[in-house]
Amino acid sequence: MEKILVLDFGGQYNQLIARRVRENNVYSEIRPYTVPVKEIKAAGYSGIILTGGPNSVYDENAALCEKELFELGIPIMGICYGAQLTAHMNGGTVEAGASEYGKVEVKVDTASRLFDGIPAKSVCWMSHTDYIKQVPVGFKIVGKTDVCPVAAMEDSAKKLYAVQFHPEVLHTQFGSKMIRNFVYNICGCRGEWTMSSFTTRTVEQLRAKIGDKKVLCALSGGVDSSVAALLLHKAVGDNLTCIFVDHGLLRKDEAKQVNDLFRGTYNINLVSVDASEQFLGQLRGISEPEQKRKIIGREFIRVFEAEAKKIGKVDFLVQGTIYPDCIESGVGDAALIKSHHNVGGLPDHVEFDEIIEPLRDLFKDEVRKVGLELGMPENMVYRQPFPGPGLGVRIIGEITREKIAILQDADTIFREEVANAGLDRSIGQYFAVLTDMRSVGVMGDFRTYDYTVALRAVDTGDFMTADWSRLPYEVLDNASRRIVNEVKGVNRIVYDITSKPPATIEWE
Ligand code: XMP
Repeated sequence: MEKILVLDFGGQYNQLIARRVRENNVYSEIRPYTVPVKEIKAAGYSGIILTGGPNSVYDENAALCEKELFELGIPIMGICYGAQLTAHMNGGTVEAGASEYGKVEVKVDTASRLFDGIPAKSVCWMSHTDYIKQVPVGFKIVGKTDVCPVAAMEDSAKKLYAVQFHPEVLHTQFGSKMIRNFVYNICGCRGEWTMSSFTTRTVEQLRAKIGDKKVLCALSGGVDSSVAALLLHKAVGDNLTCIFVDHGLLRKDEAKQVNDLFRGTYNINLVSVDASEQFLGQLRGISEPEQKRKIIGREFIRVFEAEAKKIGKVDFLVQGTIYPDCIESGVGDAALIKSHHNVGGLPDHVEFDEIIEPLRDLFKDEVRKVGLELGMPENMVYRQPFPGPGLGVRIIGEITREKIAILQDADTIFREEVANAGLDRSIGQYFAVLTDMRSVGVMGDFRTYDYTVALRAVDTGDFMTADWSRLPYEVLDNASRRIVNEVKGVNRIVYDITSKPPATIEWE
């Protein structure tokens, strides 16, 4: 299969670069800059993109690649630091100065294959403090800004290209077209990567691998595990068994929806366990957030293990790992940030021979497309993320059944109002939190002493940073009025207007 290598020098937009390539129906993978050239050569890439990065090429401990990379004959496009590296490694000079940040007008040579079909003047996104002062021998300047003498350069005979700006960022007006030009015009790709071909191929591969052996899948109701389960079911039918653990901290009616869909509609072998008594019993009296998370994680494994034992030894255990969980970075360690979010440890408690991760090459938007290919309903496919510990981390302080019921009702109303306003797909994550605060209110002739519910809605792509959503007042007003009127025990609503950082998305 044709594929593009995104060689990671630590830039913040690396995953975006890989996604932009894939949006053009060409598979791409991110690997650290330390991968030996020999391996790159053997892997048969159609092209290589060198990413941005935090260093200067002239730093003592700069992230450099092997010089031979530029002699493989594989087309290369350097972006930002990658452009400077291309200059530096091929005999050009890079110096501090000519820095630019944000939107800048760039003038390009439209005769360049990289800029085919792109106007001579357009807007690009810059973010650099160093610049290419002199291009290497054989290179020609094909782009400039008022500040930057080499905004783009190329040695078309050697198929080496470099841009100082970021074509992967949407602010670069024709960035997507530039990436397409590189991938098709210069690397000669044909565009074989589609989610329908992925689905067909993966189902065939899974069928061939599994045959009539037994597969076990932990189903959470989230997008990843649901799509993984459907793929496996399509491949091996009844040889798949799913276990769904209801810890009692799900959103309203969620357990029923999962049961109806997977057992009813899809006819999947589903073991559904209502373990809420066990979870809530263990959580009684506990209000410290990390302790709650630990207990929920531990009990989840206990319940799952007990159910898996009843099934006996299986051959394969399915995990819904997706590509961003697997990217190994040569610079920093992005994986560490996410580790606490996953309910880890299952493989140590279940008897199986091999793990299967059918989604490990896919970005989230691609997982969703596979879900649609498999006929999953849109409301499941476009579900917002939901934390493993569920409402457990959205009920501040001790968790009780009464509080769960209050929060479920308030959260349902908020989600309904967001959906009524047509905003349910555009907001990254939105939910209600039951604070531990109660305050005085008046309802009719009565004084009340009820809970405050906080509403949270954030715009985010990566969930590492987030801005609070500017929800229309009307949506907030409708949600607020409905919650205090319809949910007993709540008399005050507040809206969280902090971004991440410094706050986090969840309250605990
Ligand atoms: P924070 O609150 O850290 O959340 O800004 C970032 C994203 O991670 C989710 N989240 C969790 N997911 N277990 C999970 O599976 C957890 O303990 C957990 N804590 C936060 C959160 O919903 C958001 O999408």
